[in-house]
Amino acid sequence: MISAMQLTYLSHSCFLVETSAHRLLIDPFFTGNPLAKTKADQIECDFILVSHGHEDHLGDAVPIAKRTDATIISNFEVCMACAKEGAKNIHPMNPGGAWQAPFGRVKLTIAHHSSSRQTENGFLYLGNPCGIVVTADGKTIYHAGDTGLFLDMKLIGELDAIDAALLPAGDNFTMGIDDAVMAAGFLKAKLAIPMHYNTFDLIKMDPRVFEQKAAAAKIRAKVMQVGEKIEIA
Ligand code: NI
Ligand code: MN
Repeated sequence: MISAMQLTYLSHSCFLVETSAHRLLIDPFFTGNPLAKTKADQIECDFILVSHGHEDHLGDAVPIAKRTDATIISNFEVCMACAKEGAKNIHPMNPGGAWQAPFGRVKLTIAHHSSSRQTENGFLYLGNPCGIVVTADGKTIYHAGDTGLFLDMKLIGELDAIDAALLPAGDNFTMGIDDAVMAAGFLKAKLAIPMHYNTFDLIKMDPRVFEQKAAAAKIRAKVMQVGEKIEIA
């Protein structure tokens, strides 16, 4: 049993959050992820939080949920799609709503992006993309999902004191380095952690540049290695 929130980076936008009593997996993308060092069938968790319906975020959520009985928390449409595919436990939400979960509080925020899945018949749209604010053991983390920069990040930082902000910084589909550093400032995050970079050619970026630009903006940043675990202080 641990007393403080632990955060492990599993590559791309996938993190494992361990609280005093629960394990939360965010955006479980293992299968087809060239950076992942873990296989989906090695993961144990109690909750799976999914920011939006794209394959690199919804990923292995359903098979992991079926094997572990973990509850999938996401927007309404993603949850319904997961239930249809056999996930037993779902908790649908939408931006602005919070839920007192067994591990603490989870709240969805807006994100400027899309949320869909490609099928044989074209695109299946899976609700609105979200960011996720998790508060447990007295600490709060914000996983921005996939998003461009938006000024309402100031509001997110005003409503909750953000101990760590997990921010996409690979550009092209989401914020790039400059916008992610600005986001950390809007959020007044105590720690900024980049994600969603170097998994594919289109999102290549140099994390040292992220560190340098964050330092220049007086923002505390941490580039996590795949598999690295930190305690949220
Ligand atoms: Ni996406
Ligand atoms: Mn993505």
